[in-house]
Amino acid sequence: MLTHGVDKTLIPEDQLRQRTKALAAQISRDYEGKDLLLICVLKGGVMFLVDLMRELTILHDIDFMATSSYGASTESSGVVRILKDLDKPIYGRDVLIVDDIIDSGRTVDYLMRILHERGPASLRICTLLNKPERREVEVQLDYIGFDIPNEFVIGYGMDFAEKYRNLPFIGVLKPEYYQDLD
Ligand code: IMP
Ligand code: MG
Repeated sequence: MLTHGVDKTLIPEDQLRQRTKALAAQISRDYEGKDLLLICVLKGGVMFLVDLMRELTILHDIDFMATSSYGASTESSGVVRILKDLDKPIYGRDVLIVDDIIDSGRTVDYLMRILHERGPASLRICTLLNKPERREVEVQLDYIGFDIPNEFVIGYGMDFAEKYRNLPFIGVLKPEYYQDLD
């Protein structure tokens, strides 16, 4: 069953749709006449990217980057690896990073630093979820879908041990499903 292991729904589908629509409207206004490039952070950001770009009313293109922090734990280790880099240079472009969730902030902080060196015209962050209580490094988030409490979430692109990304809503996993792992 699809919802096997899911403890509760944190953000239902209709709220995700509404909020994504509002963010897309705001981004469409802010980037009107600019050379917008959305950079999706794989894999967690894909569902958000696809829904967000469908609602954008301005021209833009997309590229992908994949990062990983070591280990399969629910805690970020703080060590970031680039698994896949961008296809094209970003020099002079208006870059917006599209991410699923900012937790410790270490991944996006690292990304911001390496992308900044490539000379984009502008560089901002759009994240669907934000866990402010967990922040370890300060990052400026320009667009935030939802602030959420300190709970491990799954669905809408986000995984636990690579599963549950397909859930159309954001849920919380039953604690017994992850407490024994890593
Ligand atoms: P950070 O480097 O600690 O900010 O973590 C960034 C990445 O860890 C996110 O982009 C997610 O891919 C993953 N992550 C953090 N918290 C969660 C969560 O609650 N559920 C699923 N993935 C998460
Ligand atoms: Mg991510």
